[in-house]
Amino acid sequence: MHLCHPSTQRRLCQPTFRLERFPGYAEVMATAVEDVTRSWRDGQVIDLSSEMSKLTVRVAVRTMFSTALPETTVQQVADDFSLIAKGMFRRMVMPPLINHLPTPGTRRYYQAKDRLRQVGAQLIAERRSDDRDHGDLLSSLLSARDPEAGTGSASMTDSELSDQIFTFFLAGAETTASTLAWALYMLGRAPEVEQAVHAEVDHLLTDRTAGFDDVGNLPTVNRVLTETLRMYPAGWLLTRVVSRDTELAGIHLPEGTTVAVSPHIIHRREDIYERANEFSPSRWEGVKPDRTTYIPFGAGARKCIGDQFALTEASLALATITARWQLTALSDRPVSASLKHLPAPRNLMTRLTSRISADTAPGTAEQPVK
Ligand code: HEM
Repeated sequence: MHLCHPSTQRRLCQPTFRLERFPGYAEVMATAVEDVTRSWRDGQVIDLSSEMSKLTVRVAVRTMFSTALPETTVQQVADDFSLIAKGMFRRMVMPPLINHLPTPGTRRYYQAKDRLRQVGAQLIAERRSDDRDHGDLLSSLLSARDPEAGTGSASMTDSELSDQIFTFFLAGAETTASTLAWALYMLGRAPEVEQAVHAEVDHLLTDRTAGFDDVGNLPTVNRVLTETLRMYPAGWLLTRVVSRDTELAGIHLPEGTTVAVSPHIIHRREDIYERANEFSPSRWEGVKPDRTTYIPFGAGARKCIGDQFALTEASLALATITARWQLTALSDRPVSASLKHLPAPRNLMTRLTSRISADTAPGTAEQPVK
């Protein structure tokens, strides 16, 4: 399959993340938050990590394809992407021979990939014959033209588009889900921070769902996210391959050497962050994160292209969820991080308590514990 150079691909994707597209994305994000939390019941116990994955995959599907898909297909696409994201790490570490054994897991993985490829191809074909801008990621990718190339072949081919859709899902959904799960978990362990968040969202939102215009008016919520991304950066280990012989901090690095950089380790250095292992969003009051020592989205030419998208989504979701629900972890035991492919909190069983009045409450538990 032909793929244009990564930097060209990146240039082509950039308009997708222009600020003027964000109000539209935010609307979709707000609806997804509503959809997922609507099923929550007062007193219910949820697995926070899996609920946040449900939410972010749904946002990814809806922002990518807008309303083009019927509800049943949205659910199928969301399930398929979750299955692929989970299967990918296992496939990376297993010998190729094992990955090709016709086990039920392997079959499901390939079936999910085939279904997604078909849905993607069908949507791309439909959109190619329709010039309208649907305000979603797919419309933006389809209309992308490389400003540095001449006219003509400067847009993406179908297979590049399809790859790009996959990349956005895989790079964006689980990372944002893990950030949200950690943030909600940490709030449950820091009552004074939780109170400050409740005061902010109660004042700003009353009964509303948070929307795009609220993001700039949620300083406490946003500090919680900044601090969560410091302590639990989803991309905890980044690697680069040295393209020609060089020297770094006095060490000779021959071409081909793999260099690993860990945002997690840098973010926990006591010489950079006072009480580095303490969750303290107030450390960001009046302080802008330093671009060299705060790198949850990486840095340089390959820095995360979806950082503002992720922050908008996380901010809206955190605000709406905390305005309506109090989340209490069932256990005091520190939650372990699963390093399967990114440090997501594992087995985070959390009890929901509704924070809104009975008339508008989302529901009461019939089956409190699953
Ligand atoms: C909290 C959520 C997120 C975190 C922590 C995160 C983190 C990162 C990091 C650290 C990198 C750089 C990897 C490297 O240097 O090797 C990266 C790259 C990337 N991210 Fe994100 N990301 C998040 C959300 C998203 C979202 C929502 C999208 C898309 C909608 C996205 C799309 C991408 C893409 C396409 C790249 C590759 C960029 C390139 O190679 O030019 N990310 N992300």
